[in-house]
Amino acid sequence: MTLQNEPGELSKSTGFAPYYWPGLTSANFLNTSENFITSTMSKTDFVSAIKDAELGEGKMRGVRVKGKPVLLAKVGGQVYAVSNLCPHAGCQLQSGILTDYLVMCPCHGWKFDIRNGEYQENHQTKLQTYKCQIEKGKILIEISKNK
Ligand code: FES
Repeated sequence: MTLQNEPGELSKSTGFAPYYWPGLTSANFLNTSENFITSTMSKTDFVSAIKDAELGEGKMRGVRVKGKPVLLAKVGGQVYAVSNLCPHAGCQLQSGILTDYLVMCPCHGWKFDIRNGEYQENHQTKLQTYKCQIEKGKILIEISKNK
């Protein structure tokens, strides 16, 4: 049995779009593909999280930005943003303890550096980090759709 597709139809065997698309050359396909990656994979936005005044020095706060759980922490007047979920078992870090630049997970004590997200016992294990900036009294977080 031979599976054949109509032009522009999803492959009957794989479910993926076929390489042939009406009016599209392979060069156009590659360009379109790159544009797709540029516009969707790396698109980032600075999104307002909370007012800067709501985050005190040496304090942490959990927020959701574009549906993602983010931990904000302020140390030395600088705001840092990392994932709020511990990679060990998924506990929320906002309930942990912040000592200088280290946040200790409330569940089993793993410690992470909020500056780079690194787990202190194994630097290969990291929390996702996000760039922050303060604008008009608000903390903005740079977050992509895919991070
Ligand atoms: S869930 Fe964070 S240390 Fe276990």
